[in-house]
Amino acid sequence: MATEGKKLYTLSDVAVHNSADDCWLIIGGKAYDVTKFLEEHPGGDEVLLSATGKDATEDFEDVGHSSAARSMMDEYYVGDVDPASLPSKPTHTPAKLATYNSDKSSDSLIKILQFLVPLAILGLAVAVRFLTKNNDVSS
Ligand code: HEM
Repeated sequence: MATEGKKLYTLSDVAVHNSADDCWLIIGGKAYDVTKFLEEHPGGDEVLLSATGKDATEDFEDVGHSSAARSMMDEYYVGDVDPASLPSKPTHTPAKLATYNSDKSSDSLIKILQFLVPLAILGLAVAVRFLTKNNDVSS
């Protein structure tokens, strides 16, 4: 694609352009200066302003933009974004899976506790009752 001669930005280079007077977006590893497009965007300027200063790829894809929308993007393209500066998705997925797995194992712990805690309380109640009875008798 027409990436030659274009600058390579980092996420923080792009993130400074995060206002209505100066608004850049990161979509699919590319930086777009959409300042002039804010008013024209059929989805409104607010969504674009909420997607600035970060990787907006997911927000953009979630909407399911038309191919007409995608071809409009070329007009606003200013350069590529260094992938190393972007939060990478693959590191998030295993993290989520790990939480899911540990949730599962703590699930069974909770089940055991749900069974043991009432038993312990019952045992304690019986013990207290037993001890106070003994005290009553002795006093
Ligand atoms: C350079 C970037 C963008 C361009 C050129 C663009 C262009 C467009 C166009 C042409 C439409 C009309 C519907 C279509 O043809 O798909 C649209 C709708 C919309 N866009 Fe974007 N858009 C951009 C970025 C974004 C981003 C980052 C978001 C989300 C944060 C967003 C959210 C929306 C929403 C919510 C609609 C309305 C959808 C509807 O009414 O069904 N757009 N956009």
